[in-house]
Amino acid sequence: MDSFPTKTPKLGRVLIDEAAIASRLDALGAEITAVYRGKPLTVVAVLNGSLVFAADLLRRIPLPLRLDCISVTSYHGRESTGVVTFLQTALPDIDGRDVLLVDDILDTGRTLAAIRRKFITEASPASIRIAVLLRKRKQRESSLEADFAGFDIGDEFVVGYGLDYEERYRNLPCISVLE
Ligand code: XMP
Repeated sequence: MDSFPTKTPKLGRVLIDEAAIASRLDALGAEITAVYRGKPLTVVAVLNGSLVFAADLLRRIPLPLRLDCISVTSYHGRESTGVVTFLQTALPDIDGRDVLLVDDILDTGRTLAAIRRKFITEASPASIRIAVLLRKRKQRESSLEADFAGFDIGDEFVVGYGLDYEERYRNLPCISVLE
């Protein structure tokens, strides 16, 4: 049996259950499909947190599309370090493509702002839009906003459905608060 050290925070209440996620993703998939019909769409999933969301969202976008992934890190435990590190040097081939950046959560906005900046300065995409499952209601450090957002939530640390606390809880089927 897996046992947590006592200092590991406990799972709190379920914020968004499986059924609510599925039904919101149906609407989000339809919205995104309408925007990109007839366009050269490349979805870029920001690993690891968006893996579950991206996999479920993609299957609701019945268009010819390319999928790429990018790995970045900025968090340690619950705290953003403020430094966005790219874990690979090569960018996806996005020249002339309409890019949809898919991430799990928009918090401070630093991560997606850094990725967007890198894509714009190092490549020539036709457009870049942003889709997130969760968007925290708070003042952001960057002016970046999401074009597509699943749910607006309060400013509390959440896990599940791809989101982790020190690599735990990614496999929860729902979004829960960490106490
Ligand atoms: P920023 O602050 O750059 O954060 O918008 C983006 C990345 O930080 C992680 N993050 C979280 N992870 N629960 C998590 O499990 C949270 O409440 C949370 N807030 C931010 C996440 O990886 C996201 O892509």
